Amino acid sequence: AQVDKAGHRHFMAKEIAEQPSRLTSALSFYLSDDGAIRLPEPGIDFTGVDRLTMVACGTASYACHVAKYWFEQLAGLPVDIDVASEFRYREPPLAARTTALFVSQSGETADTLAALRYCRGKADRILCVVNVAESSIARESDLALPILAGPEIGVASTKAFSCQLLVLGVLALEAARQRGRLDGAAYAEQVESLRALPGLVNHALSISDEAARIATRLAEARDVLFLGRGRMFPLALEGALKLKEISYIHAEAYASGELKHGPIALVDKSVPVIVMAPHDELFDKTVSNMQEVMARGGRVLLITDRAGAAAASHGVWETLVMPDVADLWAPILYAVPAQLLAYHTAMAKGTDVDQPRNLAKSVTVE
Ligand code: G6P
Repeated sequence: AQVDKAGHRHFMAKEIAEQPSRLTSALSFYLSDDGAIRLPEPGIDFTGVDRLTMVACGTASYACHVAKYWFEQLAGLPVDIDVASEFRYREPPLAARTTALFVSQSGETADTLAALRYCRGKADRILCVVNVAESSIARESDLALPILAGPEIGVASTKAFSCQLLVLGVLALEAARQRGRLDGAAYAEQVESLRALPGLVNHALSISDEAARIATRLAEARDVLFLGRGRMFPLALEGALKLKEISYIHAEAYASGELKHGPIALVDKSVPVIVMAPHDELFDKTVSNMQEVMARGGRVLLITDRAGAAAASHGVWETLVMPDVADLWAPILYAVPAQLLAYHTAMAKGTDVDQPRNLAKSVTVE
């Protein structure tokens, strides 16, 4: 059937708004009523895995970067990540008991497919997390995990990113359970926190008007800096990618701790600095980086939760307040403000949101 904009001005807006229902579909596919995780047959035995190698391009690669924190922290499983175009030509050796995991919305990205073929015969098992179930990457994997985001038309990926994160989160949780890293109560608590996400994402969508107001100012910037620490660092990367893709504003992301190793030289009042920092175990560290920015006249947009806003919004240029969310899954929720800021900035600049110049939805040639 023809996919339409369902009353939205752009596919991107529709796809951002669809996230609560798409996340709900993915949750009901992967979680049974009693809270057990269900993977498609033949499933995955994580007790025999010593290393996970994750490969992807673009937004999907940032989903891998978030998932690395989950697999390492929750499941104690070491993760290597690479972009497919580097991985395939570097021809890296794969250690024994390595599982390779490819993430792709389209399942047709040429470099990712070539990287998958390189792993054939070298990795114990080839998994993929894809949106298009009949794609080449899905067909050539030992097990394909669907993200159930539905057709994504906007070139800038939105709902596919949040659904990729959700499926990777489920997988990390399952790995942690199988590897004996979580007791029953801790596992049940994480499953409940995952189930809360569609409602929280829905709530987060209500910052859209505020994001639009802030975006009129972002649209005047030539450069924008995004900062995040830990699980939020990959979100900063994704926020910067979204902004440059559709608004053509130069945006860069840094791990907050790297600020003083270079990017702080760029800071003045003309460079907005977007800090993504829920009130978690790393919050104080990020805030001290944020203060270094403000001490140099930088304009900070702080994206945080109520506790974070209460503790640190003094002196910041703008604050966007997100609903409270389990620390682990915050990247899924904080994808929403990253998307909305990029969308409204592009709207303010009058660029072609769904078909940005020079970009393709699916890069099937090298
Ligand atoms: C293109 C798209 C991006 C996407 C990337 C990877 O660059 O514009 O939105 O993240 O390809 O695509 P894939 O289909 O493999 O996820």
